[in-house]
Amino acid sequence: METIIVTGGAGYIGSHTIIELLQNTSYHIISIDNFSNSTKETFNRIEIITGKQVENLDIDICNLQELELAIKQIKNPIGIIHFAAYKSVGDSVLNPLAYYHNNITSLVNILSVCKTFHIPQFIFSSSCSVYGNVSELPVTENTAFSIAESPYAHTKQIGEDIVSNFAKSESFFNNVLLRYFNPVGAHQSGLNGELSKDKPSNLVPFITQSAIGILPPLTVFGDDYDTRDGSCIRDYIHVSDIADAHVKALNYLIEKKNSQQTSIFNLGTGNGVSVFECIHSFEKVSHQKLNYHIGKRRPGDVINIYANNTLAKSQLNWQPKYNLDDMMLSAWKWELNLKNNK
Ligand code: NAD
Ligand code: WQD
Repeated sequence: METIIVTGGAGYIGSHTIIELLQNTSYHIISIDNFSNSTKETFNRIEIITGKQVENLDIDICNLQELELAIKQIKNPIGIIHFAAYKSVGDSVLNPLAYYHNNITSLVNILSVCKTFHIPQFIFSSSCSVYGNVSELPVTENTAFSIAESPYAHTKQIGEDIVSNFAKSESFFNNVLLRYFNPVGAHQSGLNGELSKDKPSNLVPFITQSAIGILPPLTVFGDDYDTRDGSCIRDYIHVSDIADAHVKALNYLIEKKNSQQTSIFNLGTGNGVSVFECIHSFEKVSHQKLNYHIGKRRPGDVINIYANNTLAKSQLNWQPKYNLDDMMLSAWKWELNLKNNK
């Protein structure tokens, strides 16, 4: 049977992608995750949702020797979806070397095994942070990169170059670089969602954890921006829509629909949503008021960014299914589920 390897399969986006793969394809799925930002529990959640067990190889992908030994055992690996990376923007400013080491070394190693074991299909988790501060909206895949605002974002800019340069040297190798905007929400069952080991700094997990009493009231970082309500605007996209795009990107490569070895797609809904609109949506679907106050602007925040997603829609035949209320409701169901199962 053909195998798809998912690195970072115990993490937030990797686990949702495994669920979509198990429910919509017949590939054998193997995860590689060292649980640096996740736990084994994820695989129980995947099993409850899909009825299927997923094997995980607990390996640090930065260890090439262990990685090669593990991949050697896998029967017929035809593709790798590479999620594994550190992802905290703020932490990367404080610990840049950890981010350059983990995100770049793991990528070089995983490409090296693609070469050694002749694995022809590859999908890389990139990020809208590669664009930096943009001057044109919506952002298309051709929008020029500005200087990276953080070491994390820099690892994604470098990572994209590494993958596409590798592709130029290996004619068998085809890849998709997916630039996610702001993935949020949880599986619609509420049984799987975002659960980083550290305290969240992103808006949606902060809202739900604050509402449930784990975190203090939310601070809205600035209400005096030149936007429709003064707060910053982002393109929030449901994690299951992101996961679905990975299945479609994989099929796109396997069915040889790509016209070049490296294809790049923005993954966003195409809608800009403000911080206050997120709060109002959360209050509507959770039937409760959120305790928040207005604070100072967060240094480095982009004022307004959202995607032009027409390329992903037309080339991958992908269409985001979930709206902002769905994102907030699923995130809230997940938070309640975590509390009830403590
Ligand atoms: P996550 O932290 O939940 O998942 C990443 C997983 O990779 C974790 O389970 C972690 O244990 C594992 N991992 C990290 N380094 C590893 C290593 N060296 N060896 C083995 N396993 C390792 O993160 P996520 O939100 O699921 O993000 C997945 C990918 O998407 C990352 O590459 C991230 O940069 C990218 N991305 C995320 C967002 C977002 O907002 N979540 C946005 C854009 C891009
Ligand atoms: C969203 C909005 C904040 C927290 C980051 C990365 C990006 C990508 C997604 C990985 C902003 C406001 C937030 C709070 C607030 N990740 N906010 N109070 O900064 O758009 O993007 O995550 O690739 O690369 O940079 O996401 O969720 O932190 O912020 O007012 O307590 O919510 O100012 O306007 P961001 P975020």
